[in-house]
Amino acid sequence: MKILVLNGSPRLNGNTMYMVSGFKAGAEEAGHKVQVEHVAHREIHGCMACESCHTKEMGICAQKDDMDNIYQAILDTDMLVFASPIYYFTLSAQLQSTIHRTYAIGIPKNVKKTALIMSSGSAYVYGPAISQYYQSIIEYWKVQNAGIFTSNGTMNKSKEKWDELYHFGKSL
Ligand SMILES: Cc1cc2nc3c(=O)[nH]c(=O)nc-3n(C[C@H](O)[C@H](O)[C@H](O)COP(=O)(O)O)c2cc1C
Repeated sequence: MKILVLNGSPRLNGNTMYMVSGFKAGAEEAGHKVQVEHVAHREIHGCMACESCHTKEMGICAQKDDMDNIYQAILDTDMLVFASPIYYFTLSAQLQSTIHRTYAIGIPKNVKKTALIMSSGSAYVYGPAISQYYQSIIEYWKVQNAGIFTSNGTMNKSKEKWDELYHFGKSL
């Protein structure tokens, strides 16, 4: 299976990527192809709501930036993993811009399952807001939720957390 991870953290050796690295190692060991896109290091602008993708060039975004490649990767993948640090009680702006920009392509045709990986300082940020946001996306896309994984405080960069993500990846 092709797995695309959209990493919304700008910190390439940070807590989110630590969890992603465990996931990637496990999934690759299980024979899956994992591609990680560091969207915080790409030029990805917010949606301008011009509606060109729905009225002029159907399914094509009028903005020409690094989403061009990400669109193709999203359309090609079987599984999409959202990975993000928590910034002000929600996913990073960089990841959210990427999600908003999928407005142009609509429901990704090949995606069958998704997962959510998040890291924070505090344990008290994983309330209903984020899970409802994620749940709404998977219901709209009619895909299976493969899992939600969180880490915070001293659990960040712990072997226990890496192992949890590794086993998740390997179980796919
Ligand atoms: C702009 C910003 C906002 C943050 N907001 C929160 C927050 O609301 N709640 C929280 O627990 N941690 C917050 N944090 C801490 C990060 O979520 C935490 O350090 C996380 O592990 C960083 O992941 P990373 O190493 O992948 O970047 C914030 C950090 C930054 C830079």
